[in-house]
Amino acid sequence: MFLALNMMNAAAFKGIDSCAIAGFEREAVEEILGIDTKKQRLSLMVPFGYRLNEQPPKYRRNLGDIVKFIN
Ligand SMILES: Cc1cc2nc3c(=O)[nH]c(=O)nc-3n(C[C@H](O)[C@H](O)[C@H](O)COP(=O)(O)O)c2cc1C
Repeated sequence: MFLALNMMNAAAFKGIDSCAIAGFEREAVEEILGIDTKKQRLSLMVPFGYRLNEQPPKYRRNLGDIVKFIN
């Protein structure tokens, strides 16, 4: 997991977009990729690529609206 996140950070630094995907049919993808599941299992897929268009603005709620810090 941390390796993938480092790859994503490094890619972003070079202007390459990525998207972490953990919700996929693991057994099916392992079979398609011919992975020997006695030795290795998939945990995460990360596509990398260059955006065709600029991204639309993101609409996020303010952190203070969804997180309450208790001292
Ligand atoms: C480890 C990890 C796994 C993720 N898996 C999924 C996933 O299976 N499906 C999904 O819709 N988003 C997943 N996300 C979130 C997406 O990568 C992405 O951040 C999210 O869709 C928000 O995209 P946006 O910032 O363009 O709105 C995952 C994020 C992380 C860090």
